[in-house]
Amino acid sequence: MAEFSQEHDSLQAAQRFDLDDPLRAFRDEFHIPPQLYFAGHSLGLMPKRTREYVDLELEEWARLGVDGHFMAKHPWLPYHENVTENLAHIVGARPNEVVAMNSLTTNLHLMMASFYRPTQARFKILIENNAFPSDRYAVDSQARFHGFDPVRAVVELKPRSPADVPAMTVETEAILKQIHALGDSLAVVMLGNCNYLSGQAFDMAAIVKAAKKVGAHVGFNLAHGAGNLPLKLHDDGVDFAVWCSYKYLNAGPGAIAGVFVHERYLKDKNIPRLAGWWGHNKNSRFEMGPKFDPIPTVEAWQLSNPPILQLAALRASVETFAKATMPALCRKSERLTGYFEWLLKRHLGEKLDIVTPRERGAMLCVRIPGVGRAIEPKLREKGAIIDFREPDIFRITPAPLYNSFEDVYRLVAVLRESL
Ligand SMILES: Cc1ncc(COP(=O)(O)O)c(C=O)c1O
Repeated sequence: MAEFSQEHDSLQAAQRFDLDDPLRAFRDEFHIPPQLYFAGHSLGLMPKRTREYVDLELEEWARLGVDGHFMAKHPWLPYHENVTENLAHIVGARPNEVVAMNSLTTNLHLMMASFYRPTQARFKILIENNAFPSDRYAVDSQARFHGFDPVRAVVELKPRSPADVPAMTVETEAILKQIHALGDSLAVVMLGNCNYLSGQAFDMAAIVKAAKKVGAHVGFNLAHGAGNLPLKLHDDGVDFAVWCSYKYLNAGPGAIAGVFVHERYLKDKNIPRLAGWWGHNKNSRFEMGPKFDPIPTVEAWQLSNPPILQLAALRASVETFAKATMPALCRKSERLTGYFEWLLKRHLGEKLDIVTPRERGAMLCVRIPGVGRAIEPKLREKGAIIDFREPDIFRITPAPLYNSFEDVYRLVAVLRESL
């Protein structure tokens, strides 16, 4: 914050920041809507090359029919492998630990099938106090599926101030203490690495260490982390992770999702797993035998042959990340969101509370007392898209790949006029 001062509070200053931005050319790689777009945490914008990549596969289908599996320019049979290396860089994993498949909630269930194996003594799942509803439904249903009452089995993090409704951020120390206190009863820690409602990023390495100490498995939902925060899934020792690709990863509405399983589990053919033919040994898959022989990588968790058109869109998107690189993106993101925070506090500090703590990615979540959803259409009329979550949270994201400092300056001007 100290890096900004009065002289930076002008449109010209914001434009100068853009000129100095080493990633400024990436904005031209996206279709930018006419509005000020600050909803990349919900649906990322479309990279221009996506159409070309998807069109190519449509043309190959028209040209080759079934032969496209082997003879397309990028054969469909191993098509998912085209995104592996870039995805691995984005989440800090080894290539054998990541695969694009299914959707986020489906993948969460598949991971829980492998990593949530409760006993009468060890059956608890630790989850965020304000978890995304789908995550909550998923873990509650997992507990029930194994014969446990979620009221006992699913434990929420304890937020800073329980009187604050809905309570928002949680101190790392409190999380570690809670894991320690749950001890032998804790089966799985399943947290978003960046909470969808508060924007708080958790200290993954510390959480993994604490969970391992009590013998629990630990998984993260990276819906708000993949492509947004620096991640080191392998080195941190995370057991599993899942994410969607339609937010920061810009792979389109309902895009194909991703999974990480740590290398230490990949050679274990007997790990409990829900299986399908696409997880079977690639050399003998088409012998169509009855006995499942898992691929010795995370690909063993694949169930079905994947949607190539969706993978084409993801491929277009992760190539942009490979060019920009995560370290450069995160550097820009810190500065861009820092500028946004500075302008908000300077001009609207009395009217709104920033809920998101310093540990965060691009997204800022703010509470505006007395102002609810009704302001959304007003902002839209004035040309700005942000989003509202019940009961009173506005989520606003300057996405470093395509938002500019000028966008941020203009958005704060619109907010000032509207509030
Ligand atoms: C944190 C979190 N978890 C789960 C989901 C649900 O994802 P999907 O519908 O792709 O399964 C979302 C979607 O926004 C999310 O933000």
